[in-house]
Amino acid sequence: MQLEIEDLTKKFQDTAAVSHVSYTMEKGVYGLLGVNGAGKTTLMRMLCTLLKPSNGRILLDGEDIFEMGAAYRKVLGYLPQDFGFYPDLTVKDYLMYIASIKGVHRAAARKRVKELLGQVGLSKAADKKMKKLSGGMKRRVGIAQAMLNHPAILILDEPTSGLDPNERIRFRNLISEFSQDRLVLLSTHIVSDIESIANEILLMKDGEFLHTGTPEEILEGMPERVWRLTVPVHEASKYDKNYKVANRKNVPGGIMLRILSKERPHPEAEEEIPTLEDVFLSYFGEKAGEEDAIL
Ligand SMILES: Nc1ncnc2c1ncn2[C@@H]1O[C@H](COP(=O)(O)OP(=O)(O)O)[C@@H](O)[C@H]1O
Ligand SMILES: [Mg+2]
Repeated sequence: MQLEIEDLTKKFQDTAAVSHVSYTMEKGVYGLLGVNGAGKTTLMRMLCTLLKPSNGRILLDGEDIFEMGAAYRKVLGYLPQDFGFYPDLTVKDYLMYIASIKGVHRAAARKRVKELLGQVGLSKAADKKMKKLSGGMKRRVGIAQAMLNHPAILILDEPTSGLDPNERIRFRNLISEFSQDRLVLLSTHIVSDIESIANEILLMKDGEFLHTGTPEEILEGMPERVWRLTVPVHEASKYDKNYKVANRKNVPGGIMLRILSKERPHPEAEEEIPTLEDVFLSYFGEKAGEEDAIL
């Protein structure tokens, strides 16, 4: 299976939300990482045929997905960012309803719904009305409905928003199990959601893919190095102005900074191993001084 994005562009009026993106995905988990407004939702809506590209094509095994139409949607599962739901239906009835829309036969649907409710940890909430659910529970129902028809391609827009730490762990396990032999694309602005499960990370900014690759490749491609340095309190703001600072912590004798810099920022700075959080800051972060400049 191959999902190929070719020179994809989506313009709203004159501004491009997605701009000349090309990429080929196969089986595996792909993490689309970027800040709000990067173009993640727009790209995903095109991949689900909900939005027509202004330019470019999307091909599944060489066939245009917009020409495939229903045949494509049959192999697709999608969790929209703004997941709408039916407040007065119970969780189980809602999932049975979605299954019927997707053309899953009743007996098979019953079995599948039961199985999925177990996997997303909602077995006990099966007979609760949707309007009584917490945000994290609703999100889990949304994830379950996207997986109902065992889609070969699963697209999840911000699936972890509103999930608590336990729910996040459960979600990661569910996705790594589900992604065997499938393509899963999920978007997030939270690095820790994807660093352990994504085979490839797509860093998106201003409608473009800045950088793509395995987590290891992304780490190696980081333009800066990472340094640890403890400075007296009154000197910390100087480093904030001149560098991207990934972390600061009060320690005896001053503040310990985690600094992103191509060169050693101070003779006493010690080099640290970069993490994906550092990479995120490197591409998307601002120096304190830059923020001031905008005001
Ligand atoms: N329907 C729309 N009409 C006009 N502008 C839009 C529309 N949808 C998204 N945009 C704009 O496109 C850009 C990308 O948005 P979006 O794809 O939602 O990014 P993300 O999901 O990464 O936050 C933003 O600047 C947003 O305001
Ligand atoms: Mg979005």
